[in-house]
Amino acid sequence: MSDFVSDFWAWYVGVIVIASVLGCLWLMKSQDVPTDEGKELDHRWDETLVELDNPLPKWWKGLFYATAVFAAGYFALYPGIGSYAGLLGWSSVGQHTQELKQADERYGPVLAKYLAMPVEAVATNPEAREMGKHMWLTYCTQCHGPDAGGNTGFPNLRDADWIWGGTPDKIKETITLGRQAMMPAYGGQEAAVGGPQGAVEMAHYVMSLSGMKHDAALAAKAAPKFVQVCAACHGVEGKGNALLGSANLTDRYWLYAKGADSTSVQESIVETLIKGRAGKMPAQLDNLGEAKVHLLAGYVYGLRNEGQTEGRAQ
Ligand code: HEC
Ligand code: HEC
Repeated sequence: MSDFVSDFWAWYVGVIVIASVLGCLWLMKSQDVPTDEGKELDHRWDETLVELDNPLPKWWKGLFYATAVFAAGYFALYPGIGSYAGLLGWSSVGQHTQELKQADERYGPVLAKYLAMPVEAVATNPEAREMGKHMWLTYCTQCHGPDAGGNTGFPNLRDADWIWGGTPDKIKETITLGRQAMMPAYGGQEAAVGGPQGAVEMAHYVMSLSGMKHDAALAAKAAPKFVQVCAACHGVEGKGNALLGSANLTDRYWLYAKGADSTSVQESIVETLIKGRAGKMPAQLDNLGEAKVHLLAGYVYGLRNEGQTEGRAQ
């Protein structure tokens, strides 16, 4: 409640809350009119059912007033009236921090135990994998998917194909420091790939590198340009460079294609050439700390043992 951008909203909420409680009390009080207990009113249903002029039952009114007293007590102790913090100083952020602290105390020793083990050993330890899976689902699933199978722009981590390197150390480095890929945009540089037509030719050349269906004549036109412009990052053979995160163009795995058919692949290569790409894996060290990163590195490294390695190289 203390995060309002302007005082107006604090007052707005505060006035409505207080007015609602007072309004309820007024409504109840307004029903306290003198009655003629036991007197029959005019209404009569089903011959015998009559309405008497009795006051509202005391227990019922008592309950109603009790809710108002409860509200007054609640709003004194907890935040609820505008930006007033409440006597207990409770806040959802504070509670969250407190719960995190308790979790750290509880899991700290277990995490420390795994941190002392090599990533390879963490990768095959069933309890560590169970914990890693939970963390994966909390921190990584939104980009890489619950089964780490990836998505357009987000790599599959279940296969044997790695953009930034698949050794335990490299995987841990990726998660710790994050990665920033930088594929230049050639859209405005006629000379580099030769405009939109040049981009299509280059796409055919790139598809030839992995033996996909392509037009050999178009590909041949782009071949010299590939050596001049692209080889610096992707290598003369197009196998990529794990230090730059430049894609391996020979493996038929396309990070940015929406499908595996040649039309989707060609479209995505042309788009890559015109607009460039800048895939970013966010650094996790500050957020998670080394022990959790280590556990996750083990979890990711161990995905290869789960028997689904065919996902990427189609
Ligand atoms: C400065 C280094 C650099 C140069 C030069 C470069 N690339 Fe790239 N390229 C990259 C990087 C890094 C990526 C990965 C981008 C990402 O992951 O977001 C990439 C990605 C790609 C992809 C996407 C692959 C996929 O899996 O979807 C294609 C296709 C590609 N480059 C083709 C080329 C071609 C053709 C040229 C020459 C015209 C070229 N690149 C020049 C660094 C470079
Ligand atoms: C905001 C989205 C996002 C989140 C969250 C995210 N990643 Fe990534 N991750 C990426 C992207 C994008 C890449 C590929 C970068 C590139 O283009 O090269 C990547 C790459 C990777 C790689 C390298 C893959 C390779 O082939 O070399 C690993 C390992 C990885 N992520 C693990 C994780 C783990 C573990 C988590 C959870 C702590 C995580 N990621 C959370 C977006 C994300």
